[in-house]
Amino acid sequence: FCCPLHFYCSVDKASGKSTLGKKDLTLSFALSFLHFFHFRTSLPVPMFSRNTISVWSILKKCIGLELSKITMPIVFNEPLSFLQRITEYMEHIYLINRACSLPDSIERMKAVAAFAVSAVASQWDRTGKPFNPLLGETYELTREEHGFRLVSEQVSHHPPISAFHAESLVGDFVFHGSIYPKLKFWGKSVEAEPKGTITLELLKHNEAYTWSNPYCCVHNIILGKLWIEQYGTVEIVNHSTGDKCVLNFKPCGMFGKELHKVEGYIQDKSKKKCCIIYGKWTECMWSVDPQSYEAHKKSEKKGENRKQKQLRLRQNDDADDMPEVQETVCVVPGSTLLWRIDSRPAHSATMYNFTNFAMSLNELEPGMEAILAPTDCRFRPDIRAMENGRMDDASREKERLEEKQRAARKDRSKSDKEWSTRWFGNGTNPYTGLQDWLYTGGYFDRHYQDLPDIY
Ligand SMILES: *[C@@H]1O[C@H](CO)[C@@H](O)[C@H](O)[C@H]1NC(C)=O
Ligand SMILES: *[C@@H]1O[C@H](CO)[C@@H](O)[C@H](O)[C@H]1NC(C)=O
Ligand SMILES: *[C@@H]1O[C@H](CO)[C@@H](O)[C@H](O)[C@H]1NC(C)=O
Repeated sequence: FCCPLHFYCSVDKASGKSTLGKKDLTLSFALSFLHFFHFRTSLPVPMFSRNTISVWSILKKCIGLELSKITMPIVFNEPLSFLQRITEYMEHIYLINRACSLPDSIERMKAVAAFAVSAVASQWDRTGKPFNPLLGETYELTREEHGFRLVSEQVSHHPPISAFHAESLVGDFVFHGSIYPKLKFWGKSVEAEPKGTITLELLKHNEAYTWSNPYCCVHNIILGKLWIEQYGTVEIVNHSTGDKCVLNFKPCGMFGKELHKVEGYIQDKSKKKCCIIYGKWTECMWSVDPQSYEAHKKSEKKGENRKQKQLRLRQNDDADDMPEVQETVCVVPGSTLLWRIDSRPAHSATMYNFTNFAMSLNELEPGMEAILAPTDCRFRPDIRAMENGRMDDASREKERLEEKQRAARKDRSKSDKEWSTRWFGNGTNPYTGLQDWLYTGGYFDRHYQDLPDIY
């Protein structure tokens, strides 16, 4: 049972369908218990210091360009592929399991809203750039103890599009999406526009929710201290009824008062607000009834008018410093806690500010090699080299892989061969009617013939 090979195979036998039989499940839980203590909680070596490198010399010619066209030194990366980075949505999957178990639909929506916020919480202080996935690159993650498995594939290179599909091992939910962050360089900052839809289906409740992520901005990429801001409106729509939850990720504003704040509400079909949701994406989310919230806001405003604040213009060449993070979330009496972030391990600061979950994502456990698709990110030599602190190797390997990808594309164009995706197909999202990449199934049958040689 301790053999990871056997562990994976036993899961696999049952995986012709998307759910596992009860017997297999008991078995897998027993196995996952053994497996659980296995995940590593740190990287092999601490990160390389970035302090001595001048980004300005690289970037000053690139203002307004799309970031994918700029080559940055590898020292600004973090040793994860973007496919692994989006897998971090799954860190708080217990919120989805909670949503599945709740009989009341508004309560379910609250849990889904908390999940949508928690899914971007791992971005906090993560200023390292993940590696761009190669076309055809895949990533899988099975976490028995959290009851899900996930597979993702890089389905397009220009524009870069990553598609993922996660499913509950007991048939409770399906969670999928295709993501293509459009990165733009704005002189002092890099902004990622969140293109692509995320869909969550709660199968037992016959409900589907869709949303897209907020904007994400990395400030001070040239001067000063790097910091991350997320802003924009995230609308979670319940497609069974058209009811929705609107979450406003606030830009930090002039004095940083709004830094990290998220505020929103759930409304029913008659557009009546049923509940207010508030908190910080870096910290925690609460829900409260609208009356209590309004009353609290009013009393807060009164206090504020007494304090006059000075205007500070930010249109200059200096670094846009991250405002001091003010008090933590101020809890309105009568609120219920929906989610609280786990603290990061102490060594996180020297390891790209990874969470415990992120630390484990590139782990290649003994026995896994025989099971993973050869296109899995864990086999990428550049990421592996960086993870082990071999920066020159990492840089060389990254260049080699990119060159190999270019050569393969050239060959295809000569022979009129089209690239075809392997595990996802171009289709229409049944809920939004928009173009989307949908899982065509079969990955966990592990028939890997005809996979491209991308490494
Ligand atoms: C979502 O749709 C379901 C199914 O029609 C409905 O029962 C439920 O009230 C809706 N949930 C919310 C939170 O609006
Ligand atoms: C990690 O977080 C610290 C504290 O906010 C920050 O100074 C540092 O730049 C971050 N490191 C990375 C690699 O993002
Ligand atoms: C996917 O299909 C849509 C139309 O449904 C089309 O516009 C788009 O170009 C296709 N994308 C790819 C990469 O094939």
